[in-house]
Order: sequence, then C-alpha cells, then structure tokens
Amino acid sequence: MIRRADLTDLRAVFAVERDVFGTHVYPDFFFRQAFDLWGDTFFVADGENGSLDGYGIGASSHEPGVLWVLSLAVRGASRGRGLGKALMHALLAAMKARGTSSAKLTVHPDNPAVALYRNLGFEVIGEEPHYFGEKDPRLVMELRWG
Ligand SMILES: CC(C)(COP(=O)(O)OP(=O)(O)OC[C@H]1O[C@@H](n2cnc3c(N)ncnc32)[C@H](O)[C@@H]1OP(=O)(O)O)[C@@H](O)C(=O)NCCC(=O)NCCS
Repeated sequence: MIRRADLTDLRAVFAVERDVFGTHVYPDFFFRQAFDLWGDTFFVADGENGSLDGYGIGASSHEPGVLWVLSLAVRGASRGRGLGKALMHALLAAMKARGTSSAKLTVHPDNPAVALYRNLGFEVIGEEPHYFGEKDPRLVMELRWG
C-alpha cells in the first residue's frame, strides 16, 4: 500500500535508504527535515509482513510551479512489483493537486530508473558531467502538465 509517511516511519525510511544506497546516503535527520518541509509529498510503500519497502519524496523549488522528485527507493527484494511506479504516481498526483506545472528529477544516465521515468512521460532536459562526483554525471528529466 502506498500512503503518506508519518513520523513513526522515518527510522524505517532511513533503513531503506541505507539498504538501497549503501554509504552515499542522506543522513537520518534529513528525513525529519523532509517530513517537516514536504510532508504532503513524502510517501512510503508498505510491504508484506508490516515491513516498509520503499519511499519517495517530492520537494518544492525556487522555480514557481516546479517541484522535484528528490528521492525514490525500493528495497532490492521488493523490486519489480510495481512499488516504484506506484510511489511515482502518488507523488505526481500530490504534486498536481498543489497546482504546480511540472516535476523535475535527477538521475544517473545508466540508472534503469530512466526507463521508468520515460514511461511516465519524463523527458531529458539537461545533463551535467560531474554532478554526483568527478565524471559521475546526471540527467535532469522533466514532466510538464501545466
Ligand atoms: C528505481 C526503483 C525505485 C524502481 O522500483 P521498482 O519497485 O522495482 O519499480 P516497478 O516495479 O514499479 O517498475 C516500474 C517500471 O520500471 C521498470 N524497471 C524497474 N527497474 C528496472 C530495471 N532494473 N531494469 C529495467 N526496467 C526496470 C519496470 O520494468 C517497470 O516498467 P513498466 O512500467 O513497463 O511496468 C528501484 O529499482 C530502486 O530503488 N532503485 C535503486 C534506487 C534508485 O536508483 N532510485 C532512483 C534514483 S533517480
């Protein structure tokens, strides 16, 4: 089930973060800050047996009407069951409900998630060669609806 995160989920969200991204992760207190700032676009995916299997965060930006998908992650063992796509649908619906006009995101060009985003209608609008680190590039993708 996809639902809005609540405060009691944040420890489990951080566990997903470490599971999925290893050591290159947001610190645990970031999720409390994200919850306070963007709680209406912070979703979690409940797995079977009461586990928390994924999360997605949308964030506001300095550009009027533009939100960013800041992070999307599903535990390895729970992938390929539609949770990532369902989290994205929940995020996009919540973003649209706020009267925004587009969503942007950052993704490594080799990440299979690029296909997920393309299938949702995102298009590449930019590329930076040294974003995540030296010679570690990103694509910027955008989905416009307004
Ligand atoms: C990206 C991620 C969230 C997808 O989660 P998921 O629950 O496996 O995704 P879904 O099962 O909803 O699949 C959604 C679509 O993406 C495709 N997809 C997902 N992972 C894929 C992969 N490794 N290779 C090819 N296609 C993939 C699926 O085939 C599916 O396509 P469909 O829309 O035609 O059915 C997950 O793989 C993940 O956490 N990756 C590591 C973290 C990451 O890179 N996050 C994105 C940062 S930008």
